[in-house]
Amino acid sequence: MGREFLDLFQDWADSYDDTVTGHDVEYQAVFEHYDAILDAVAARAKGRVVEFGPGTGNLTKKLLENKLEVLPFEPSPEMREIGMQKLGDQVTFRDGDFLDFDLVGAVDSFVSSYAFHHLTDEEKGKAFEIYGKYLPRGGKIVWADTMFESDRHYQAAISAAIEKGYHNLADDLKREYYTTLDVFRSLLEPRGFTVTFDQVNAFVWIMEATKQ
Ligand SMILES: C[S@@+](CC[C@H](N)C(=O)[O-])C[C@H]1O[C@@H](n2cnc3c(N)ncnc32)[C@H](O)[C@@H]1O
Repeated sequence: MGREFLDLFQDWADSYDDTVTGHDVEYQAVFEHYDAILDAVAARAKGRVVEFGPGTGNLTKKLLENKLEVLPFEPSPEMREIGMQKLGDQVTFRDGDFLDFDLVGAVDSFVSSYAFHHLTDEEKGKAFEIYGKYLPRGGKIVWADTMFESDRHYQAAISAAIEKGYHNLADDLKREYYTTLDVFRSLLEPRGFTVTFDQVNAFVWIMEATKQ
């Protein structure tokens, strides 16, 4: 459950850091301001931080630089290996995912960048239910990910990608579980969270949910 897109990362792991620095033209707009986006997520995290889908460890590095305790859970062995090569002297990349992770003790923040769209909306709700049990009042979930203001915006992004001949991007937008802001609100508010959204490029928003 939730790990259905892992095969993609087996092939992508080695070139992933080239993609985020703009080498893949189809994904340039998705990764525009990547570094500043990760800085903004790291700045909102506090205390003991669980990170999901750290990939090659770019957000992990920023969290560590901010002197936070970080527990990164990454399901892809190829990604974990790269993360460990880069940061293994400071942190251990554990096998785990958004819904299945071994954790003892309280957590102040759950963070993730460019990864939560791998879960269906039903799985997203289950994930928020789990995190709510770990977080104290004031605890946070901070995600940076592609999301859309409405279905109309989502469909327009797919059409624009097709028009530009960006077929990999269009297929990705159609295949994975990108979600609208209203869906996030409907999954979080009944579970006792308040939520804010800030758009940071044409695709990516930072979602910050706070436990009440
Ligand atoms: C696009 S990469 C993002 C990597 C990194 N967070 C970043 O911002 O560059 C998506 C990551 O999510 C991981 N992933 C895929 N399915 C996942 C799941 N169900 N739970 C947690 N992580 C998952 C992938 O292995 C990959 O490392």
